[in-house]
Amino acid sequence: MVTIKDISREAGVSTASVSKVLNGDYKNVSEETKNKILRISRELNYRPNRLARSLVNNRTNIIGLIISDITNPYFAELAKGIEHRADTAGYKLILCNTDENEEKERSYINMTLEYNLDGVIITGSEKSSSSSSIEELQKYNIPYVSIDREQGDDDYRVYVGNLEGSYIATESIIKNGHTKIAFIGGEGMHGSRNLRLEGYLKALTEYGIEPDHSLIKIGNYHMETGYQYVKFLIENGSEFTAVVCGNDLIAFGALNAVKDSGLKCPEDISIIGYDDIYLTEMTEPKLTTIKQPSAEIGNYAVEVLLKLMKNEPVEEKVKCFVPYLVERDSVKRISPETQFVWEML
Ligand code: RIB
Repeated sequence: MVTIKDISREAGVSTASVSKVLNGDYKNVSEETKNKILRISRELNYRPNRLARSLVNNRTNIIGLIISDITNPYFAELAKGIEHRADTAGYKLILCNTDENEEKERSYINMTLEYNLDGVIITGSEKSSSSSSIEELQKYNIPYVSIDREQGDDDYRVYVGNLEGSYIATESIIKNGHTKIAFIGGEGMHGSRNLRLEGYLKALTEYGIEPDHSLIKIGNYHMETGYQYVKFLIENGSEFTAVVCGNDLIAFGALNAVKDSGLKCPEDISIIGYDDIYLTEMTEPKLTTIKQPSAEIGNYAVEVLLKLMKNEPVEEKVKCFVPYLVERDSVKRISPETQFVWEML
């Protein structure tokens, strides 16, 4: 294996100069020496021993990204934004998927400590009510930024207004004439509170619609939840003309359930999602949804983490992005006399 000593011998310069140049520090090194060192290191196919370097610098230039569900395109898009910004800042990522499992989350946080990673970005999960794993990061002073979760006052946090987003979704459905509106969501991501459910209830209440609790179903954030509960509501003859979904995957399941029940979206049932993942353009009909700006969120989280890792001040400890409505084709304007079509089937 080629070492710094080999390059210094070949270039006829000190190992200190080689080390400086290979670490990107060109101060007090002539242009000629710098180019020579870089050329020889390329010719000899020099590969830095990052493990050894991290022992000396106490830095790995690696960030841990702990994601709660990598199968959800929302998190894939978020991860892409994070990876892109981290890469341009000279950091590599280790991607960890917890499957919404607290044990896995704890073990990955331990891993970030054991491997001496420079910082961590962690997304919330529906079951991340425990703050014990985050406390480990705090105890060992590991800079971290959390996305989508509310763990404690010490968190540097980036999130999108969950209550607001769901309120906007429900309000847009109400403004299209619907009054019998179901809510299918996942468990709350914020301890005991389910803010997306709260947003739905708030909109109904403010528009004078009495919530029908038989139309509220809580499962998880996967397609099956949307499929099973919409199928269940239809088969049980529940009266509803629209469904507000906790995320786009739930909405995809809901779309399939409507179709498999011989009904049509939006003619018979309107559906609105949450996230605006890229696949919403591909469904039939294209899904109306609430936008969470995943790329911007990821980018911002890295900016904050970079500052924390350099001990620089961060202006906003908690940053809230504003969700907004993306209108496509899955919501229909109805008149109050609209019949519940499947009752007649
Ligand atoms: O993890 C479930 C949901 O929370 C995702 O679909 C996204 O909406 C996130 O905020």
